[in-house]
Amino acid sequence: MSMREKLELLQKRRAEAELGGGAERIKAQHDKGKMTARERLDVLLDPGSFVELDRFVTHRATDFGLADERYLGDGVVTGHGRIEGRLVYVFSQDFTVFGGSLSETHAEKICKVMDLALRNGAPIIGLNDSGGARIQEGVVSLGGYAEIFLRNTLASGVVPQISAILGPCAGGAVYSPAITDFVFMVRGISYMFVTGPSVVKTVTHEDVTFDQLGGADAHATTSGVAHFAYDSELEALTAIRTLLSYLPSNNLDDPPVRTTGDPVDRRDEELLEIVPDSATQPYDMHDVIRRIVDHGEFFEVHKAFAENLIVGFARLGGRPVGLVANQPAVLAGVLDINASLKGARFIRFCDAFNIPLVTFEDVPGFLPGVAQEHGGIIKHGAKLLYAYCEATVPKLTVITRKAYGGAYDVMNSKHVRGDYNVAWPTAEIAVMGPKGAVEVLYKGDATEAQESEYREKFAHPYLAAARGYLDDIIDPRDTRPRLIEALTTLATKRDRNPPKKHGNLPL
Ligand code: HXC
Repeated sequence: MSMREKLELLQKRRAEAELGGGAERIKAQHDKGKMTARERLDVLLDPGSFVELDRFVTHRATDFGLADERYLGDGVVTGHGRIEGRLVYVFSQDFTVFGGSLSETHAEKICKVMDLALRNGAPIIGLNDSGGARIQEGVVSLGGYAEIFLRNTLASGVVPQISAILGPCAGGAVYSPAITDFVFMVRGISYMFVTGPSVVKTVTHEDVTFDQLGGADAHATTSGVAHFAYDSELEALTAIRTLLSYLPSNNLDDPPVRTTGDPVDRRDEELLEIVPDSATQPYDMHDVIRRIVDHGEFFEVHKAFAENLIVGFARLGGRPVGLVANQPAVLAGVLDINASLKGARFIRFCDAFNIPLVTFEDVPGFLPGVAQEHGGIIKHGAKLLYAYCEATVPKLTVITRKAYGGAYDVMNSKHVRGDYNVAWPTAEIAVMGPKGAVEVLYKGDATEAQESEYREKFAHPYLAAARGYLDDIIDPRDTRPRLIEALTTLATKRDRNPPKKHGNLPL
């Protein structure tokens, strides 16, 4: 065979690999409203940047007629590409080949790109669309999953790991995305559960649809397993690109700084009007955030889960920051179990990846109630506290209004190594609100005069400032320039925790 003939054969085999499970199954995939594995990569990556690896890999199984049924690539497309010019490693499961199920070789391909991502210090993005363990391969497939879980764990905190669930993800397979840093889902096509509706029906007699049990909204709002839910794959994949723009490629890099057209000394008059005069009246903390960050751009994480706490990424003076903010518009911004979990995970991510933390605080305390106590608010609240305490990235806090009780300590107070702690003149920093305080002090016989006496004594920021617990009390209009200046001074911050194997986060 001549070189040209050999090249033709190569082209033919490449084309065969690109067809996955064949034209009919590709049509079926499209009919379900889903993109193919390769179409997804086209959207995710910079045009023409994808370099495929292992396209000629096939499975080694022979049982159940598999000896005669092989597909080049074995149900997963792997390789590397660029997002805004930066290297990322990817795997994209191909549902048209054995339902994207995970065989020994399918797992080996994923592990190869995970190893490369870790070694070369680049994010790994997994696009999941799989019927789970390849049933014909048995324990070999289970072993493959475990190899992936191990790598997910070892890569945690070293390179960003992102999962998009773009089809089924069931059984133990869910535990790979669960270990990764961010989970994206798409309404109508994604679902995740450990056991599906029919098993649930048998065991607990509950009637539930796939979507109710494990759809995008169920996980984005109720369980918190998903950080993002979108209406289309296009939106989800585009959002992954946006997310990456805030992140460094690995834990030794700094997050990418951009030049910004938004002046660093921009003051905002509207900030004077946001906090209502009455301490019990709600307001939307998003308004505060948008007026302070570069161009009002805020990439919110876990938007629909535990809405009483807001977390997400933005830029200040071009530098990416992680924002954590109490939300007075939801449950008065109280901290509960879900808010604590959401905040803790986000803070630990930012700390692992050198992303400074900016906290906006207006918190009346932890949520009372039997459900919260018996649900473990003590240990879950402790996670948030622990996360703030252990974080060594630059940590800034702006108290806009309430900072009561234990929540004052938790929300990046000076005492837990806050680097720059300021308050607006509207801040109230006390053990509890005036009403609650006099009820305790005077055993339910408190007069209005006693309440206003307490308010005058404690419902302001000056006692905390007198102790140096606040670095300053600032004009709200100056918040942006003040934060940017502080971030600039902290760009060279060095801090570290005592050497240890690892801490014992209260799980
Ligand atoms: C091998 C599989 C497969 C699997 C699907 N297929 N799942 N092949 N192993 N796990 C194949 C089908 O035979 C079919 O082949 C093609 O993929 C498409 O599947 P359909 O059923 O036609 O698609 P759909 O109707 O969309 O249903 C998708 C599905 C269903 C809900 C995922 O296929 C399903 O229930 N599969 C089994 C799921 C499962 O029980 N997996 C094991 C879970 S336990 P053809 O040739 O017709 O195209 C697990 C443990 C992980 O994963 C442990 C980690 C620790």
